Amino acid sequence: MPGKFIVFEGIDGSGKSTTIAAIAERLAAAGAKTIQLREPTEKTDASREIRRILRTATKIDAKVSGDLLDLFLIDRLWDIKHQIEPALSSGNVVLLDRYFISTCAYQSADTGETLNILQKYLDDTRILRPDALVFLNLPTKIAVRRLADRSARDVFETETRLEAIATRYAAAVRRLQESAHEIKVHEISHELTNSDFDTLAEMIRGIIK
Ligand code: TYD
Repeated sequence: MPGKFIVFEGIDGSGKSTTIAAIAERLAAAGAKTIQLREPTEKTDASREIRRILRTATKIDAKVSGDLLDLFLIDRLWDIKHQIEPALSSGNVVLLDRYFISTCAYQSADTGETLNILQKYLDDTRILRPDALVFLNLPTKIAVRRLADRSARDVFETETRLEAIATRYAAAVRRLQESAHEIKVHEISHELTNSDFDTLAEMIRGIIK
């Protein structure tokens, strides 16, 4: 496909949306057509149900996790077909805030399950693989401090939960690096500065060429 598909992953408060906005600005200034998308999409019934669950659930047991796993897949397949692929076909750089690595990290109870979910996604031919993955692996303590300033929190956003999610995130990204060599992984483990944004934008421009 003519466009390029770049995914941003990291726990809540890791800076994904700031990073995406900063990169989009740089790519646009360099003349690249860009589109910013996010999952859950907020555009399907599945995504609305996801939001409802995340806002109202007090604990995430196996049943809720299983429901979320199904709902995220439905929402994601819609996103690929109706937003991501059309945007790529018309030559856009798609900057996607969260993709299936989020599902691996959030919808699993331990790293064994994390890696099983990842394998299912890698085996599913309907799932488009990104050209690059930007993994914002900010220490959980810093991410939590940032979240404290936000008003609306969802069920995942406590330090203990985010710590566990961060561990599973790292496991999923490691495995992805081992098994999907065509995906360029760029990991950043510190608070981002303008020079990181410049580097990431350059990296993406290198992929576009
Ligand atoms: P997020 O995208 O961070 O939006 P905001 O915090 O601005 O509302 O939140 C989405 C939530 O959905 C977040 O808690 C992570 C969760 N999530 C999953 O559990 N699995 C997934 O596959 C995705 C994409 C998100």
